[in-house]
Parts: sequence; structure tokens; C-alpha cells
Amino acid sequence: MKGQFPILTVLLALGAAASGCNLAVSREAYDKDLAAMRGQQEQIEAQKSSLNDQLQACEARYKAKNDELSTCIRDKMAAADSFKACDQKLEKMSKIGGNCARDLATCQIDSDGLKKAKLELTAAREALQGFVGTVFVNCVDVPLMPAALISAMLHAHHASGHAATLLTARLDDPAMYGRIVRNKKTDTVERIVEFRDASAEQRALHEINSGTYCFQAPLIFQILDEITPDNDQGEYYLTDVVERLIAHGEQVGAVVAPEESMVAGINDRAQLAEAEVRLRHAIRHRHMLNGVTLVDPATTFIDGDVEIGSDTVIGPFTMIHAGTRIGQHCIVGPYSQLFAAILEDGAEVDSSRIEKSIIRSGAKVGPFSRLRAGCDIAPGAEVGNFSEMKNTKVGPRSKVHHLGYLGDTTLGEAVNIGAGTITCNYDGKKKHPTRLGDNVFIGSGNLLVAPVTVGDNALTGAGSVVTHDVPAGKVAYGVPARVIRDRETPKDPNTA
Ligand SMILES: CC(C)(COP(=O)(O)OP(=O)(O)OC[C@H]1O[C@@H](n2cnc3c(N)ncnc32)[C@H](O)[C@@H]1OP(=O)(O)O)[C@@H](O)C(=O)NCCC(=O)NCCS
Repeated sequence: MKGQFPILTVLLALGAAASGCNLAVSREAYDKDLAAMRGQQEQIEAQKSSLNDQLQACEARYKAKNDELSTCIRDKMAAADSFKACDQKLEKMSKIGGNCARDLATCQIDSDGLKKAKLELTAAREALQGFVGTVFVNCVDVPLMPAALISAMLHAHHASGHAATLLTARLDDPAMYGRIVRNKKTDTVERIVEFRDASAEQRALHEINSGTYCFQAPLIFQILDEITPDNDQGEYYLTDVVERLIAHGEQVGAVVAPEESMVAGINDRAQLAEAEVRLRHAIRHRHMLNGVTLVDPATTFIDGDVEIGSDTVIGPFTMIHAGTRIGQHCIVGPYSQLFAAILEDGAEVDSSRIEKSIIRSGAKVGPFSRLRAGCDIAPGAEVGNFSEMKNTKVGPRSKVHHLGYLGDTTLGEAVNIGAGTITCNYDGKKKHPTRLGDNVFIGSGNLLVAPVTVGDNALTGAGSVVTHDVPAGKVAYGVPARVIRDRETPKDPNTA
């Protein structure tokens, strides 16, 4: 409003200069205008004040909102912190929960183990009810323990009359085996202490418990009732019976194994493999001392119960499995696998697989034959390249030389089976037999649709499909095979 006065002053000056007679009127108008202007000025001042008040109110509201926002941000940050803390707590709790679950599972396993141990003990007690004598206890994971050592231990036990006899061993590195604690003066066994429960002095001992025992029954069962799981693992230790027996005034003896390997337990597959190497070496050694030639012992695998006659030669890369019996002067291998096979004296098997079958004296199988269960190859018979058989009897001097399958078949004497012959013994539901008489000649590539019989001295032409019996002494061929003519009795039955 200040700016308006100079304008007004100028107007008045101009007005005065323009007309001196109207000066009074102008003055009145001027006052009026001035009053109006002052009124306006007051109004404006009032508006200004009101606006100022509004502004202050706004600023106050803004400040209040700002404070509120700051509080919100602080609250949010605090909430985030406590959320994080909660998360951490939750994670911690879930870890504790997991540990608890594991502990619970372990407890269950432990308690199951204890229950099982008690059940087994009860079973043993029941089985040996009323038994008076020696109870022999052995671990099942000690495969290299020789029978002679067990005999020696039993002998020592009976001779001493002790309540118990332990089998121990002295090891350079006794590792975590239970230690034998002996009386320092008398050297008699006082107790067995498990590694976990052993003192530093006891751990320094080198004589270990093998886990093989002789106990007197029924005394042992009475003592077992006194055993408590009062040890580091909370288990019932069979080894505690030693201390208990001595507490009862009984004596406990010990037999020390001459070699560490004899009492070595198997704890993993590497140790199992090592034990197998030792065992197989010992088996091969025994056979070689018995007069069997192993061309390459390192690649020859022979199971424990296999019997082999002297002067038999076993070629490289041959596996002779349980239940196999091989006579004298046989030739087996190379590259053969025998499963519960029986080879009579002088039989030969070359690069073939024989399962639960008999190869008679002088018979030859291979190379590359597979005889499945139930085959019987007679003296002088030959089964050759890529021939598969199952439940088939091959008569003396008969020949099945090349590429074929004979199932549920009986061959007479001096039969010749042409290359690629197959017995169709299975109709989708049942197996059927094929019977071939003496001196039968089966041409190459025959299909013998079982059940079918080819009589003595009969012959079938190459590529025949034999769906009906062929009478003795006849020639038949074709698809299906028809009897064509008689066959002259051959001088050499193995010729057409
Ligand atoms: C059947 C066989 C012994 C000949 O018998 P064969 O009575 O002397 O017969 P032939 O040679 O006189 O031939 C007579 C007819 O039968 C046919 N024939 C011969 N063998 C035949 C056979 N296996 N399948 C179908 N037709 C045959 C001939 O082609 C001939 O037919 P054609 O008159 O129209 O020319 C002979 O052909 C044969 O198959 N031998 C088996 C050889 C074999 O497989 N050996 C095994 C080695 S592992």
C-alpha cells in the first residue's frame, strides 16, 4: 500500500496544478479515498495476519506430522531390529530343536540297541537253558580267524578249567581296541577296559581284546545279570564279565593270537577288500601246494570251499565260485567262470561260463559257451563256440559246436547239431522237451519246435523247421520239415 501514496501525491499535485478552484473538492475526495484506502489497508493487514496465523498453524501441523514421521521411522527401525532378533532366536531354536530331534533319535536307537541286546541275550539264555559246558562267543566280522586258533583256544580253556578264556593279540598300534589289563606281579588277566573308558596308562597297553571268548555255562548267565551300563557309552559291556568273574573268585585266562590279521575286525569296505586279498592268497597257495597249476595266481579267484584235483591247470582270469568241484588233469580257463560246477577228471573248459552243471571226463566246453543250470555233458562230448544250453544232457561223443541254443533237450550218443540250431522250448507259457536219439544229425539252422522227438539215426536238412516228430532212420527237411526218405545208417554218425 505504501507504493500508492506517491501516486496519489503525484495525482494531487497534478490536480492542483491543473485546477486551483477544485482544490477543496479534491481534498475531500482525497480524504475519502485515503480513508477507503486505510480501510483496505486494515483489511489487508487483517488478512495478512490471518494468513500468518494459518501459516503458523500449518507449520505447527507440519512439525507435528514430521515428529510423527520421525517416531514412525524410529518405531519401524526398532521393529526391524526386533524382527531380526526374533529371526535369530527362531534360527537358534530350530537348531536346538534339530539337536533335540537327533538326540531323541539317538536315544531311541540306543534304547532299541539295548532292547535288542537284551532280547538276544534272552534268546541265548533260552537256547542254552540247562546247558553245562563251554559257550564260545565270536564276532562275525573277523573273517581271517583260522579254525586252528579256535581249537587252540578251546583246548586252553578246557585244560585250565578257568571260568573264561579270552583270545587276545599284541598289536604295535592297538588303536581303539579294548585293552587287556593284567596283574603287574602275576601277569594274570584282571579286566578288559574299553578304549573310551581307559586311562592314559591303560591306553598305552598293547594287548587287546579280540572279542572272542570261552565261557563256562551256566556261570556266564549268572554273571551277565550283574552287568550294568555304568560306563562312558551307557552300554552293557560283555567285557565287564571278566572283572565280575574275578570278583567272584574265578580265574580268567588268555590265549594270544600269533598274528594280528587273525583277529582283525572289518570296519569298512577297504578293510574288507584287504581281508579278501589275504584270504584269496591263502586259498590259492593251498591249491598250488596241492599240485594245482595256477598260470597267473593274481588273476585267479577261487572261493573257499572249491575243490581242485592235482595236475589241473587253471588259466588266467578265471573265477571259480562256491560249490565247484574240479577233478584231476582238467584244464580250466583262461577267462572262465564256474558256479557250483562239477568237472570230472580230464574235463576242459575254455573261456566259458558254467553254472550248476556237470562236465564229464574228457568232455570239452568252449570257447565261449554258456551252460546254465542243469546241463550234463557226457564223456567225449564237445560244446563249442557261442553255444548256450539250459537243462540239457549231451550224450557221449555228441557235438554242439557252433552258435545255438538248446533248452530242456536230451541228446543221445554221437549226435551232431548243425550250426545255429535252436530248440524252441517255450510256448509262452510252458517249457517243453526236445529229444534227439543216438546218431541223429541235425542240419544247420534248424528250429526244433518242442515238444518234439527226432528218432535214432534220423537226419534233418539244413534250415528245417521241425514241428513234428521225425521217425528213426528217416531224412526230413523243409519248412515245415517233411519226411523225404530213409537214411542209411551212417558209418560216421557225425556226417550227413
Ligand atoms: C537234406 C540233405 C542231406 C540232402 O538230402 P537229399 O535227399 O540227398 O536231397 P538232394 O540233394 O537229392 O536234393 C533233393 C531236393 O531237395 C532239395 N533239398 C535238399 N536239401 C534241402 C533242404 N535242406 N531243405 C529244402 N530242400 C532241400 C534239393 O534242392 C532238391 O530239390 P530239387 O529236386 O528241386 O532240386 C542236404 O541237402 C542237407 O540239408 N544236409 C545238411 C547239411 C548240414 O546242414 N550240415 C551241418 C553242418 S554244421
